[in-house]
Amino acid sequence: MKAIIPAAGLGTRFLPVTRVVPKEMLPIGAKPALELIVDEAESAGADEITIVISHGKELIREYFKGKPSIRFAYQLEQKGLGDAVLAGWENNGEHTNENVLILLGDALVAGCNASREMVELSKANGGCGVIGCERVPREKLSRYGILKLDGGRIADLVEKPSPEEAPSDIAVAGRYLLPAAVFDILRTQAPGKGGEIQLTDAIRRLVRNTPEEPASPFKILPYPYPGKRQDIGNPKGYFEALKAMGANV
Ligand code: G1P
Repeated sequence: MKAIIPAAGLGTRFLPVTRVVPKEMLPIGAKPALELIVDEAESAGADEITIVISHGKELIREYFKGKPSIRFAYQLEQKGLGDAVLAGWENNGEHTNENVLILLGDALVAGCNASREMVELSKANGGCGVIGCERVPREKLSRYGILKLDGGRIADLVEKPSPEEAPSDIAVAGRYLLPAAVFDILRTQAPGKGGEIQLTDAIRRLVRNTPEEPASPFKILPYPYPGKRQDIGNPKGYFEALKAMGANV
């Protein structure tokens, strides 16, 4: 299975240290946070992992060099998460129709291997897609991709909606297992929220059954994984992650 870890963000919420150390390389005990994410992907069955970086984040490349399961791709401009994962896909060797695991490089999960559990859920459901999710309070809905569920599957998604527009209080939480078809969609994806190419917008085109998207909708299940997501993109979240990941150190 292929995995893509986008780690190209500039780390503006964690300045000034991110001028010299990518946020993904901050230590959790003796390992950089990113290595815990690589470990998660590998133990979920990923054997080809592409880490998407940007110029200035070569420390990541330096650290993992010599690890045969890992390759690198560059996101040349900060054009959004959708653009970053597409850059990873284009550099991820021969393409297959297998589902692809996407693990956000600034999201650690404490208490479970969310990716492995998602792969198991997919296997038990005919190889469908799975998106890791969590409930969020109303005042935080506008920070996340929010799911609309129908009959237990994902029927639609909205990126960073206002509380009034949000179709539920269930948010996309840093882990995706998606059909390879999402990358074809991303190639034609127009910029969305914030002028960025949003992964959320491409996934909604996969799952919606509308005349504009005549391809049969893909089944993608939500998975509220039992662990707790830690956002290491800012100092407070990093501090929380250090406490929560203590058992792994
Ligand atoms: C990204 C996604 C969003 C998701 C969030 C947490 O947003 O675009 O849909 O809910 O990660 O997984 P970001 O935090 O990069 O702005």
